[in-house]
Amino acid sequence: MSGELRIFADEKELFAGAAATFVDAARAVLAVRPQFSVALAGGSTPRGLFELLASPAYRDAIDWKKVVWFWGDERNVGAEHPDSNYRMATEALLSHVAVDPARVHRLCGETEPLAKAAEDYQQTLAKAFGVAADGPPPSLDLVLLGMGSDGHTASLFPFTAALDEKARWVVANEVPQLSTRRLTLTYPVLKAAGCVLFLVTGAGKAKVLREVRQGPHDPRRLPSQAVDPQGGRLLWFVDRAAASQLE
Ligand code: 6PG
Repeated sequence: MSGELRIFADEKELFAGAAATFVDAARAVLAVRPQFSVALAGGSTPRGLFELLASPAYRDAIDWKKVVWFWGDERNVGAEHPDSNYRMATEALLSHVAVDPARVHRLCGETEPLAKAAEDYQQTLAKAFGVAADGPPPSLDLVLLGMGSDGHTASLFPFTAALDEKARWVVANEVPQLSTRRLTLTYPVLKAAGCVLFLVTGAGKAKVLREVRQGPHDPRRLPSQAVDPQGGRLLWFVDRAAASQLE
């Protein structure tokens, strides 16, 4: 498995490393371009990073108005729902720093049909980057990803249809394992990113992290294995507990 692996003593150290990486990436891009684009991960792990970025230690580190915010995936819920990835990021970070609301692009998980939300988001991405919506995907400067204990990332779940998507940048994905549907960025977008940063913590991820990074290549069963930015950086930030089964 490719990519740079960094093992941190604990979650606190990992979030500090991730916050520094986020700020460094933003500063490097903003030194040469007017905006910095990021796709946020959902789930519970990133909350600690978002809260740190909103803290006095980092809240003045970036001109937050120059950040363009996207999400890697969203549940089939609205912005106010407790399960919403948008809600978590807004509570932990976006409501605490001076973002430009016009640059906050929520995945509208409440839309029916959900496929319409995916199509709309592809148009949003294309417009934000000034590219054609039917061409190659834009290059997000930074994509934050988590990983489930089943090896999924974003909402690219094992053996689901989204794994086979080679053209569209965003799809509505049926997830039978959870009896739900999710919106998710697809591999083409992840492969085009400037930097992909996985954040994986806790002993509960130790087995799958070993399988993903050191086991046989089997991306239909372990979708995280197929995330490999072509011209970009792939970083795995893990804590010691998650790394406990690595050779
Ligand atoms: C989501 C996430 C998902 C998440 C993993 C890990 O919407 O749930 O995008 O891919 O990153 O499920 O979740 P935890 O960080 O809660 O372990």
